[in-house]
Amino acid sequence: MAEVRIEHVFKRFGAVTAVNDFDLVVKDGEFVSILGPSGCGKTTTLRMIAGFERATEGEIYIGDHCVSSSIKGSFAPPEKRDIGMVFQSYAVWPHMTVAENVGYPLKIQKVDKKEREERVQKMLELVHLGEYSKRYPHQLSGGQQQRVALARALVAQPGLLLLDEPLSNLDAKLRESMRFEILAIQKELGITVVYVTHDQGEAMAMSDRVVVMSAGVVQQIGAPHEIYTKPANKMVADFIGLVNFIDGEVKGDRVFIKGSNVSFPNTAKVTGEATIAVRPENITMSLSGGQMEGQVTHRFYLGDAVDYRVNVHGHDIRVIVKGADIDAIPDGSKVYLDFDRVMVFDRN
Ligand SMILES: Nc1ncnc2c1ncn2[C@@H]1O[C@H](COP(=O)(O)OP(=O)(O)O)[C@@H](O)[C@H]1O
Ligand SMILES: [Mg+2]
Repeated sequence: MAEVRIEHVFKRFGAVTAVNDFDLVVKDGEFVSILGPSGCGKTTTLRMIAGFERATEGEIYIGDHCVSSSIKGSFAPPEKRDIGMVFQSYAVWPHMTVAENVGYPLKIQKVDKKEREERVQKMLELVHLGEYSKRYPHQLSGGQQQRVALARALVAQPGLLLLDEPLSNLDAKLRESMRFEILAIQKELGITVVYVTHDQGEAMAMSDRVVVMSAGVVQQIGAPHEIYTKPANKMVADFIGLVNFIDGEVKGDRVFIKGSNVSFPNTAKVTGEATIAVRPENITMSLSGGQMEGQVTHRFYLGDAVDYRVNVHGHDIRVIVKGADIDAIPDGSKVYLDFDRVMVFDRN
């Protein structure tokens, strides 16, 4: 198993800085996700760890092995890095059976046939494809093909598994069940995982820690509950979960909702213009009284909840009430809101 250390890594493509001063230590056996919008540099980071891309600057270590160093000018190719990798596209060989696909890395390593067959079968059972060894990829569903790719990435027992949006091509239900399968396999093997995704739900549900990236820059690294409850900035708050952003004005040690006398402690010690942030599930709505008065403008039925839009002093605020009766508070109703777990950020 392996610890991964990424120190001051940059990747420039001409004028584009795809990855800007990336620093991360992934502990032995840890599951870390790199999360961010499309184009933020996730794949480039993973490809540098894998050795498919060479860092412009910085050092990468896998275990004790320095696999890439701009200072020493050293660079180990992917096959010298003790890694397994799974991509978004299934990338299994169509002309090979499931067993041949999974056994290929062992064939390259010249593992003898009998041992190869045993290890392939064991791996196929781990990914619940024990009965499918003689099939060809076109005889499998997308989810099954992706499990073949996973088994092939793991068969040589690498210290590090790298996954780049492995579930993005699967439908929603399968995507969710595969999350748990991948996690179960990771726990069983105790392998270190770096998992790239743009899906915050996936990152939250699977990871020990999440690295949130935007425009090539790491915005925050933390456990899922940390980045959700204590986002480092507006970008992280916006990308993880739902959030209301409300223009605020700092007066003394309070931040006021712009145009109102409703205020909250200036926890972030912002000066001048601030943004008040509150998640829809942290707002209590009542008909009888509360911190501020508003008017319901729209509402949307979500089945398990009602999603309201409430106008408060000209600000449009989203409130999600679990188990609410859609008819109880019609559009136009006067309501009162109470904010809990308010966050304060710099306006920009
Ligand atoms: N080979 C390349 N040549 C030039 N630009 C690239 C190359 N690969 C990626 N980029 C650019 O680097 C940025 C990050 O890309 P990528 O790592 O693929 O993002 P993500 O995986 O987060 O969607 C993007 O602006 C992308 O256009
Ligand atoms: Mg990508």
